[in-house]
Amino acid sequence: MVENKISLGIKGLDEMLYGGISSGNIIGLVGPAGSGKTLMSLQFLHASLKKGNKCLYISSNHNETQLKSHSIAYGWDFEPFINTKHLTLKCMKPVQTELRGNEYHLTSKYLDELPMEVNKMKNDIIIIDPITDFISLCKSEVESRSRLLNLFELIKENCSTAVITAESEIDSCSTKSGIVEYAVDGLLILRRVQSADLNEIHHVIQIAKMRWTKHIREIRQYDFTDHGIEVYSKYNVLLGDSGDVKKK
Ligand SMILES: Nc1ncnc2c1ncn2[C@@H]1O[C@H](COP(=O)(O)OP(=O)(O)OP(=O)(O)O)[C@@H](O)[C@H]1O
Ligand SMILES: [Mg+2]
Repeated sequence: MVENKISLGIKGLDEMLYGGISSGNIIGLVGPAGSGKTLMSLQFLHASLKKGNKCLYISSNHNETQLKSHSIAYGWDFEPFINTKHLTLKCMKPVQTELRGNEYHLTSKYLDELPMEVNKMKNDIIIIDPITDFISLCKSEVESRSRLLNLFELIKENCSTAVITAESEIDSCSTKSGIVEYAVDGLLILRRVQSADLNEIHHVIQIAKMRWTKHIREIRQYDFTDHGIEVYSKYNVLLGDSGDVKKK
């Protein structure tokens, strides 16, 4: 059977995935603050839109204006895709503040609204950045797991391919609960490591799992550029090679 691969539009990462992610899969992108989760997800979004896919991007961290204006700087203009209805850019606040009398109260409908948004329309690609609040709002591990699996079921019933980002704990490779890591079909882990000479912090990526498909297991370095993220073909620094790490 020839697998239908979807390019992530990230140089070097598609190579690690032998062409991209499998159509219909749900991929987790786990990393600490500032590791590039949002940037990678927007880069994937732009690449998918350019291929004519219908996409839904749900953000709980940035509003629509911020997402559009920051993306322009990397050469990703989302406005035309919004106008042709190829892109739904949805900003959902997980928690609202409500003034009742003299007191502020926190309310949330996110646990119900997020699945509803995912199920509203058929999309080829769904990106959620990040899923962390959805998990944190659940009252128990059982609830988190079942709500996440229900959400994933909806995505699969609609035959969408999804990338879900999740925040990892600082200096850790995994999320607080670890639930996302088990529930997803594929898992990309972003990490920061100190260079061999201790002078620099490098960003590295690893494919921890990719169900039913082969992938490169090496830890590889990536960097931020004015055009988005680029994954390099080698990570020599861990081995003590002080050569130019940007060399491919
Ligand atoms: N053009 C650029 N040149 C160099 N570095 C950049 C550039 N653009 C972004 N960065 C780096 O990307 C980081 C932010 O990436 P991003 O917002 O995608 O991370 P994140 O994992 O989503 O973080 P958070 O968990 O806080 O949302 C910045 O802190 C900066 O280090
Ligand atoms: Mg982010």
